[in-house]
Parts: sequence; structure tokens; C-alpha cells
Amino acid sequence: MKKKKILITGGAGFIGSNFANIHKDKYDIVVLDNLFLGDKDNLDSDIKFIEGDACKQEDLDKAGDCIGGTVDYVVHFAGTSSQPMFNGDGFVWGYTNAISSFVTTVEWARKHGATKFLYASTSSLYANNPLPLVETQQVTPPNHYAVTKHMYEECSACYHAVYPEMDIIGFRFMSVYGPNEEAKGVYANLISQFAWDIGRDLPPVIYGDGTQTRDFTNVKDVVQGITLAMESEKKLGADVFNIGLGKSTSLNDIVDALNKAFGKNIKPKYIENPIKEVYIHDQYADISKIQKVLGFMPTVSLEEGIQHQVDNLRLEKVKKTSSDDFR
Ligand SMILES: NC(=O)c1ccc[n+]([C@@H]2O[C@H](COP(=O)([O-])OP(=O)(O)OC[C@H]3O[C@@H](n4cnc5c(N)ncnc54)[C@H](O)[C@@H]3O)[C@@H](O)[C@H]2O)c1
Repeated sequence: MKKKKILITGGAGFIGSNFANIHKDKYDIVVLDNLFLGDKDNLDSDIKFIEGDACKQEDLDKAGDCIGGTVDYVVHFAGTSSQPMFNGDGFVWGYTNAISSFVTTVEWARKHGATKFLYASTSSLYANNPLPLVETQQVTPPNHYAVTKHMYEECSACYHAVYPEMDIIGFRFMSVYGPNEEAKGVYANLISQFAWDIGRDLPPVIYGDGTQTRDFTNVKDVVQGITLAMESEKKLGADVFNIGLGKSTSLNDIVDALNKAFGKNIKPKYIENPIKEVYIHDQYADISKIQKVLGFMPTVSLEEGIQHQVDNLRLEKVKKTSSDDFR
């Protein structure tokens, strides 16, 4: 049987490369990435790769041509992937890159035969909503990054009303960690940043007192959630799903777990929180919707995920000096 075809935008980045590497045998995959933050080395060498911009139709065409011009699915990870990228001079670029890459890729996907367009939204748009965070809550995005993801979701609902033949499914990832984050440098997940510090005997830098919590979710489980939606026989329309572990863990507990995995005892350095936008103090997801609709079940415990991270540290590839440079 002929393999189904997937275009992955932003596929040389952290989550995209994990998605591509996991699926390269089962699917005919092409990755499009402008290498703004991605690294071609994140991808297994036999994956088709085009360096190009998801805001440009001609670059999407080049990628599409690699797998015969049409696709079955598009998975969109490209875009402006973190709030600090919108700071200062990044403001106009941040919005332009986020929105232009999204609408150009959605339109390209529909015109090139995709039956499903799967995209990354974010749990940041819940801000400090009551826990657990659930898809039915009203959201007020707390920063520009979350505003762009909210726009994706709103745009998808309108687009799907006009073009119901293509499902457009969004995923509100919680705090994702795992391999292939080195190229993200200061934008990487705190588990990676703290691991890079402790691995070099530097103190991880914590904003505030370290009691803030996140729903740290292994990238393998994020790939699992997206895959279930991609392969589902159900018509999912323009639905949106949380993907998380469904548990909250404090930054202090993360530092303890990393020290345990390294066999070290490096104390964190606590500093005043410099973040000026609304700061999200606590987070964990209600994952019952994705469990019920798609059969999702997290498979990687935090202990296992952290041990894997420590055992596979690639300090030579890290593009930052310490979590003091953070943001
Ligand atoms: N990592 C997380 O915890 C997390 C949480 C919620 C949502 N997300 C979202 O998931 C997606 C993937 O996140 P990630 O952590 O892998 O980030 P990432 O920055 O590693 O990946 C994004 C990739 O897109 C590429 N890119 C950016 N703009 C592009 C463009 N115009 N054309 C082509 N390529 C472009 C970058 O070079 C990078 O490789 C992002 O949309 C992000 O906002 C991530």
C-alpha cells in the first residue's frame, strides 16, 4: 500500500523533529523549515528536507513537489514559538511570522489535497484560569504569543465553516520537554535549561521562589496526541484538544529530580521575576477530552523523561551559556 504523505512545517525544530523521526518509516514525509531556530541535525538523515519559509507559497510548493505535489496531512509547527520573541523589535516580526505562516500553510494544505491540517496552539492562552485547565473555559490570552495562537483557533473555526472538507485541529500543548531542544537556546523548556546548567555544575536560575508549577509533558506524548487525531476515522472539524500529562510539578521539584538523575546537589539561584506580562503561576491540564475522543493516554512519567534527558545530554550543541541568560 502507498504510504500517506505528510508535510511538516517547522519540522527541524524541537517538537517537529521528534514527530518526523517517529513517523519517517510509516509515512512519506517532507520537512519545511527556515532554520530560524531549527537544526537539520535534529532530523534523521533519511528525511526529506527543504530549507524555506512557510510564509511563502513557492517554498511550500518546493516542499510539496518532493512528495509528488499533493499531501494527505499537514502538521504545522512553524511560527513564532515563544513570547520573548515578541519583545522589543521582535513585535512586528513575531506577529507577521506567526499569522502569515499559518494562513499561507492552511490555504496551501487545502489546495494540495490535505484532509487534515493539524497545528500547535498553546496552553498559555489559559493564563491563570482555574485548574485544571479545560477546553470549555473562556480564555483571555495573556501575551502576544498566546494572542497569535488564539487567532489560529478562531481563524480555523471560520475557515472550516467555509471549507468543511479539511479538518483543522488545534492542540493546546502544556509545557513540552524532551530531546532536540538545544537549538532553541534561551527559548527551550525549563527542564532542558536546568539540565544544561546542572550538567555543567551551574546553578539553575529560578524566577521567584520556585513554587510555580507546570504540567511538564514529554514530547513523545505530544506526538502521540497529534498522531491519534491525524489517524482517527472521526470527523474532528475545527476542534481543539489539550495535550498534557495532567499533573502539576513545581520548579523546585524539577531541580530536585534533575539533581537526583545526575547524582548531584546543585542549589538553584532564586531571582526576582523580571517578566512584565501576566505571569502564569500554576498549570495542569484536564486531559479527559482527548482521552475520551481519541483514546490518548500519557506514557512517559516525569521521572523517566528526566532520566532520559540527563542520559542523552548534548551540551556541545547548546546555544546558550546559563539559565541566567534566560529571556
Ligand atoms: N515547546 C512547547 O512547550 C510548546 C508549548 C505549546 C505550544 N508550542 C508550539 O509548538 C510549535 C513547535 O514548538 P517547538 O517547541 O518545537 O518550537 P521550535 O521553535 O523548536 O520549532 C519551530 C520551528 O519552526 C521553524 N520556523 C519558524 N518560523 C518559520 C517559518 N516562517 N517558516 C519555516 N519554518 C519556521 C523554526 O526554525 C523552528 O525549527 C510552535 O508553534 C510552538 O508555539 C510549543
